[in-house]
Amino acid sequence: MKRHHRIGTGAVAWAACVLLVSLVGAGQTRELRPGDPLPGITPVEFSEFRLGLDDFSEVENAEEGLGPAFNGTSCAVCHNVPSIGGSGVILEVRAAYRDENGGFRGLNSAGDSLIHLFSIPAHSCQPIMPDDVTVVAHRAPIPLFGAGLVEAIPDDTLLALEDPFDRTGDGVSGRAAVITDVATGDRRVGRFGWKAQHATLLAFGADAYRNEMGITNDLFPRESAFGVSAEQMRLCDSMPDPEDVRNPTTRRRGIDNFEAFMRFLAPVTRGPINEVVRDGERIFHAIGCAACHVPALTTGPSVNPLFNRKTVALFADLLLHDIGTGDGIQQAAAAPEEIRTPALWGLRVRRPLLHDASAATIEDAIGRHQREAELARRGFLQLSPSDRGRLLAFLRSL
Ligand code: HEC
Ligand code: HEC
Repeated sequence: MKRHHRIGTGAVAWAACVLLVSLVGAGQTRELRPGDPLPGITPVEFSEFRLGLDDFSEVENAEEGLGPAFNGTSCAVCHNVPSIGGSGVILEVRAAYRDENGGFRGLNSAGDSLIHLFSIPAHSCQPIMPDDVTVVAHRAPIPLFGAGLVEAIPDDTLLALEDPFDRTGDGVSGRAAVITDVATGDRRVGRFGWKAQHATLLAFGADAYRNEMGITNDLFPRESAFGVSAEQMRLCDSMPDPEDVRNPTTRRRGIDNFEAFMRFLAPVTRGPINEVVRDGERIFHAIGCAACHVPALTTGPSVNPLFNRKTVALFADLLLHDIGTGDGIQQAAAAPEEIRTPALWGLRVRRPLLHDASAATIEDAIGRHQREAELARRGFLQLSPSDRGRLLAFLRSL
């Protein structure tokens, strides 16, 4: 967390915001770029967004609590394509055990599965993958554009979409990931992460701060490094936990700043929509893609106009499905076979695809859809070349 405040940030932020507001106010349509905040953001919200962007981008070192085991030195090292807050190519590694009956066992009694990439000092606090694991999984970063809108979708909306016993008989049986939110203790519907493991940006950011960077905080107060004893961990990192303390001036923690940055980050805007793209969208519905990639959901009522009953055109139901790509890891409410439907908005600025970054092209990603998505994949394979072109034109417009 930044302890020295960067002078002038507030003033620059305010000036930029006034500029943005005046452009919109003047009716000029300046194209929103990836990394911009939500249009209509207030000056106070904009300064929180900027402070959050600073913390999200800030490279940390051991004196600031980094490590002992970690995957990256800032949030932005992994979330940076095509702008800060986006996706990236650094993959997280997980490992665990499956028995022949499909039973799952984590690396330890807590069910942990994360294997950190780095440690400081190098070697002495480096988690080592046991030589008898039977599952090794990789996870790609998920872009954060529009995350505040996703957070504002009511749990009831997602619960109404689930159909765990496939009563509709279409082969699709999504499940809501009901989890306990670490910040409030409330039962909530998870929607963030490939396993829908968190419901809020505060909780996900706090989890990432500890798990990806080794910076303990109020929500995740203990260091975690598989196979490294608590004693050894203290030798590697003697900073008292939690390491993410409130800034004496702003009274905000790093995790509050991350939350603000992600909440106010605008979704990626659609590319040009022409007749071919519209035809493609009709095909998307006709072959059953929209059964899981639900085109739009709506946020609940909010006192903040940015989030009050807004249409969120994310192309996902945010439910857990088994489409045959499961990574073998049981986590939060998700079974080893299950993956949360990813939002398709911003698809054109994101590669590689799928949770493990194993698909280079959109066609590859569709080709991996099986089980609950078997009918949709077959529908795709049966399209004429020109209809396939229309569907891909639609997907490339997202
Ligand atoms: C080592 C790379 C790495 C670093 C560093 C990192 N992330 Fe991530 N991020 C990921 C990966 C991988 C996922 C998907 C993880 C999963 O679902 O298990 C992810 C997912 C997320 C999500 C879920 C988004 C969604 O819509 O589902 C949020 C929120 C997030 N990261 C925030 C952060 C924040 C805040 C930080 C800094 C404290 C951070 N990340 C640091 C790799 C990283
Ligand atoms: C039964 C639910 C379901 C159906 C039906 C479905 N998908 Fe998916 N889709 C998913 C899930 C779950 C994933 C994530 C799988 C993974 O990463 O392992 C996914 C991933 C994707 C991705 C990759 C996105 C990314 O960010 O990595 C694309 C593209 C995609 N689907 C397009 C389609 C298209 C086009 C169709 C129709 C032919 C379709 N899907 C039908 C559930 C579904």
